[in-house]
Amino acid sequence: MKLVGKHIVLGVTGSIAAYKAATLVRLLVKEGAEVKVIMTPLAKEFITPLTLATLSKNPILVDFFNPENGDWNSHVDLGLWADLYIIAPASANTIAKMANGVADNLLLTTYLSARCPVMVAPAMDLDMYAHPATQKNIATIAGYGNIIIEAAFGELASGLSGKGRMEEPETVLRRVIDFFNSSNRFANRKVLITSGPTYEYIDPVRFIGNFSSGKMGAALADEFAKQGAQVTFISGPAGVYPKDTSITRIDVVSASEMLEAAKNSFPSVDIAVMVAAVADFTPETVADNKIKREADDLILRLKPTVDIAATLGKVKRNNQLLVGFALETANEQVNASEKLKRKNFDLIVLNSLNDKGAGFSGDTNKITLINTKGEITPFETKSKQQVAADIVSAIFEMIGNLKG
Ligand code: CTP
Repeated sequence: MKLVGKHIVLGVTGSIAAYKAATLVRLLVKEGAEVKVIMTPLAKEFITPLTLATLSKNPILVDFFNPENGDWNSHVDLGLWADLYIIAPASANTIAKMANGVADNLLLTTYLSARCPVMVAPAMDLDMYAHPATQKNIATIAGYGNIIIEAAFGELASGLSGKGRMEEPETVLRRVIDFFNSSNRFANRKVLITSGPTYEYIDPVRFIGNFSSGKMGAALADEFAKQGAQVTFISGPAGVYPKDTSITRIDVVSASEMLEAAKNSFPSVDIAVMVAAVADFTPETVADNKIKREADDLILRLKPTVDIAATLGKVKRNNQLLVGFALETANEQVNASEKLKRKNFDLIVLNSLNDKGAGFSGDTNKITLINTKGEITPFETKSKQQVAADIVSAIFEMIGNLKG
């Protein structure tokens, strides 16, 4: 019994795969979880509330108002009660509403008010799943921090074969158990993350910057926090920040400010992950006043910034792990391996700009991990959330070797 004491809300939408909800409820209850089921009105056309009520041993919630006992079904109370909200099967329609904050049934109001993690298992026909609108909506809700259990390949209700089947209940159960197990993996561990771009002042109103969005760093910070780590997040002026409220955020602007903040935090952490796209050069002098457009040309003299990662690499203790990122356009693996050595990293995450789906502002990334033993592990293109989970798992494998 691996889920004793866990409170799980299961949201069931109108999809032929609703029949799988029955097995899922049974498996969750068998593992000791307490399960409350919310159905959308259409879901009742696919599976009877009586089946799910019997299996979950709890009344089924569909409407805001329950005429039988005169009670309001409070979505806020449900959201607070749950340790995990699973929406399985999740139809294209429900995913689209989740992506846009539509709240026209109890399942969706509960989604909007839930403070617990949310797992979503899509189920639909292959063409609906492949449609760019659906893919965009799935990426959007993944971006909100929801855990997506990708649809599987196989025969579909339409008779067609392809990707769109809801994952089997046994697989969903495994993901649920893994989720609860992993939430303590980094208990008592402190993690430092640098993220976003840096802005190098030219004068009081101008800077040299780069297009780093901060998405990858924020996803990593949230993933570490979800797995129990105490996270310090040092960020340049990015557009995206972590959502987990337990994370300590330190905002900086320039490379030199980031260096100071990182040097201060590093001695007290176990793991540091350098995701920031730090400027390599900064103006030699910063004009005190806004530079006027008087001259025919303007020559800016730049000097190198201090390499933050290499600075930390020099003072790294045996009981600390330092992880770097490398964005390469040519000779990727050789350059990344060389960077790993030069900066004294324990692991380097290589993004190749030659790979479709990798890079700064997108919602996906394609990475290759390289460690000090020269082991090279390539991954598929995935959402930045899933990439973050892969990186955190790789780091978890390594912390066994940490002393103290
Ligand atoms: N990094 C850093 N401080 C810098 C420059 C880079 O901490 N001043 C870190 C990045 O956060 C990343 C790693 O070093 O983890 C590699 O960054 P990258 O820009 O690829 O490396 P550079 O040393 O700048 O090499 P180059 O630009 O020549 O490829």
